[in-house]
Amino acid sequence: MKTPIRILPLVEDGLVDEVLRPLMSGKEADVFVVRSGTEIRCAKVYKEANKRSFKKAVEYQEGRKVRNSRRARAMEKGSKFGRKEQEDVWQNAEVDALYRLAAVGVRVPEPYGCFDGVLLMELITDEDDHVAPRLNDVSMDAEQAREDHAVVMHYIMLMLYAGLIHGDLSEFNVLVDSYGPVIIDLPQAVDAAANNNAKRMLTRDVDNMTNYYAQYAPDLLNTQYAKEIWALFEAGELSPEIELSGTFDEVEQDADVDSVMQEIKAAMEEEQNRLERIREAQEEA
Ligand SMILES: Nc1ncnc2c1ncn2[C@@H]1O[C@H](COP(=O)(O)OP(=O)(O)OP(=O)(O)O)[C@@H](O)[C@H]1O
Ligand SMILES: [Mg+2]
Repeated sequence: MKTPIRILPLVEDGLVDEVLRPLMSGKEADVFVVRSGTEIRCAKVYKEANKRSFKKAVEYQEGRKVRNSRRARAMEKGSKFGRKEQEDVWQNAEVDALYRLAAVGVRVPEPYGCFDGVLLMELITDEDDHVAPRLNDVSMDAEQAREDHAVVMHYIMLMLYAGLIHGDLSEFNVLVDSYGPVIIDLPQAVDAAANNNAKRMLTRDVDNMTNYYAQYAPDLLNTQYAKEIWALFEAGELSPEIELSGTFDEVEQDADVDSVMQEIKAAMEEEQNRLERIREAQEEA
């Protein structure tokens, strides 16, 4: 096909040899199948901010790091330079997230870099070399749903271990190849430690995925992965080796309340005894 204008610089630089066909046109990006040498890859061309319709940009951008202070100031001012920088941060956020997640063992498309607003990455395919379907487009039995759900919960835990929350996880942003679920679409990934909405977003991601798999295995609705994962994060106990149980011991929390109540009761009794002793002493006098 004719090379889309935004991919031309990558062709000129030899990163892409040929654009084979459009794959998908989403809210934030147009995705193409491209050839680089003998490799078939995927090119995600980001739309410009004014053409995107991402509603919650503010929620996501809170706490996003901008290392250079001139940049940070320009972004705050919203100058033309600032807007350009804001775009770069947005676009680099996805490639950064892909590298960080791949490093901790989350299955994501292998990234090859982001150039001029075009993310070049592995094309996820099924066993017949067709583009892998989205989770939303596959059906499965209960056993498969439980297995894949556990894998996705493990990935959500690993993402948080890497400091990130997907923030837009759903059956539309998970592909399924012959090995299982692959997480995609990460430009809005949030920095867990710096964002006040982190717990809420993590819970939303977990709930979206659990509700989806629960249509095949309703027992999944009884799991409590979000609470379990968040408690591990807060306690600084996340690690790639952790095996999640899907349960969360609220009893332990209640026990804490109980012990506080017991302490209060003991203090009151002690005070009662003290007053009693004073009264006795006064009566004796
Ligand atoms: N690496 C990949 N391999 C195969 N297919 C992909 C890959 N990346 C994206 N796609 C396909 O392109 C679609 C859009 O990609 P993505 O979700 O990253 O962009 P988006 O603009 O956020 O889309 P949407 O608004 O629909 O969420 C995906 O749903 C998927 O079908
Ligand atoms: Mg998407």
